[in-house]
Amino acid sequence: MDQTYRAAAFLDKGGTGKTTTVAHVGVAAQHRGHDVLLIDLAGKQGDLAKHFGVWDDYQQAIEQDEAWPNISTVFDDSWSTIAEKLGEDPLADLVIETDEGVDLIPAHPGLDTLDSELGNIDDARKRYSRLEEFLDNYVDPLGYDIVLIDLPGMTNNVSYNGLWAAGHAITPVEMGPFEAEQADALRQDLNKIADNFAVEIELALVLPNKVDTRTKLAEEYLAAFKDEYPEAIAPDYVPYSQDIRNAAQRGMTAFSLEDPSSTARHAKETYLGAADTLLDRLGGGDHA
Ligand SMILES: Nc1ncnc2c1ncn2[C@@H]1O[C@H](COP(=O)(O)OP(=O)(O)O)[C@@H](O)[C@H]1O
Ligand SMILES: [Mg+2]
Repeated sequence: MDQTYRAAAFLDKGGTGKTTTVAHVGVAAQHRGHDVLLIDLAGKQGDLAKHFGVWDDYQQAIEQDEAWPNISTVFDDSWSTIAEKLGEDPLADLVIETDEGVDLIPAHPGLDTLDSELGNIDDARKRYSRLEEFLDNYVDPLGYDIVLIDLPGMTNNVSYNGLWAAGHAITPVEMGPFEAEQADALRQDLNKIADNFAVEIELALVLPNKVDTRTKLAEEYLAAFKDEYPEAIAPDYVPYSQDIRNAAQRGMTAFSLEDPSSTARHAKETYLGAADTLLDRLGGGDHA
């Protein structure tokens, strides 16, 4: 691929599987032979880094004031000056390699105040396009095939930056009435941003997650989501899998489990198919 594609995981709600999705779709794309960078904007708790077992070391670096530059630095007014001083490869200390092959820019406590700092930028286009500028100028030259961004489970200046920069949203949904409403609100949100700022933000992948098909209700919601998002629905769903939860707690994705359960195997297949579909859709669009 001669271009870096981008997508951001977003839903105005916590716990539906955004971080899990970014981790697994990322590793799935890696398994398909793509170079993958994950970026954690979801908050200082560092969930994405935990998912790859690299948070403890990073947290130590943070405590010793050595995690610099970090993800919040790149939003700074003076980032381009900083980057220049850092020399040839300004992202060398920002990007971490993981055991599963994907690279990662972890979260940082500086994300805490980032939302209000962005809020101080009067011009809305400038407020929402900081991340895009960073990706265009500093990440794209690194030649990744795809950059996946994990976002906070709320609509704020940080998540807008992620959506704006990515141009494509990935939305994990659980099978319930609340999620159906949230996904619909998200679609309206994306349209609103598009109208206000003349930028395209598409819902590229709706991924049903934690599905328990033993319940009739889950089947009904699956069918409803399929009807509602024919252009974005993933080819398959991710089942509820205790293995996914356990793997996350051990600092790995389901792809690294030695003896995956049948639900974990199903999940891996779904994530591989979802990665293929996502890359198709990103490649088929005209997002540069
Ligand atoms: N398919 C799944 N089966 C079982 N547990 C899951 C599944 N997907 C996510 N989880 C668990 O649900 C919790 C919330 O997921 P997470 O990805 O952190 O959500 P979010 O980032 O949207 O807050 C985590 O403990 C995660 O391990
Ligand atoms: Mg999360």
